[in-house]
Amino acid sequence: MCRLIYFSEQNPLVNADIKDIIMTSRRKNAAANVTGILFADGGYYVQALEGRRSRVTKTYNRIASDVRHSNLLIVSCIDIRERMFAGWSMALHGDMSASVREQMRGFFSLNSFDPENITLESLVYFLQILAVDMRRRNSPS
Ligand SMILES: Cc1cc2nc3c(=O)[nH]c(=O)nc-3n(C[C@H](O)[C@H](O)[C@H](O)COP(=O)(O)O)c2cc1C
Repeated sequence: MCRLIYFSEQNPLVNADIKDIIMTSRRKNAAANVTGILFADGGYYVQALEGRRSRVTKTYNRIASDVRHSNLLIVSCIDIRERMFAGWSMALHGDMSASVREQMRGFFSLNSFDPENITLESLVYFLQILAVDMRRRNSPS
């Protein structure tokens, strides 16, 4: 399996409803056994996709051609043995708890997400914190 993480810029000209994106993502990802998490903040998207390489590739390429965002930049694509977001066909960072929200302030200089201001190492570490928090609250979707 692999885990791919990318950044993209939200398209200000398209009115994207995050609920629609999540609903479609969950349906399609569940069928492809792809899991992950999506951030939508500060004019950016950040998404992690994990699963079999072929499935992640297909999913990523479909997402990349979506006009709701542009300038996609893959910041990481690595082999994994275990999923970070097992059970989440697509988690939404908005579901995070108050304590994790507090920790987020330590990672980002601003309250909103800014890809220019976070290293990949910090981002992956933060995703791990989020995943552990979600597991603890046991609310897979
Ligand atoms: C930021 C963002 C994240 C998305 N994430 C996923 C995803 O994880 N899985 C997925 O199937 N589609 C995702 N989509 C939607 C796809 O781009 C596409 O609209 C959807 O898969 C339907 O494709 P189709 O019309 O070719 O069937 C995402 C779109 C955006 C803008």
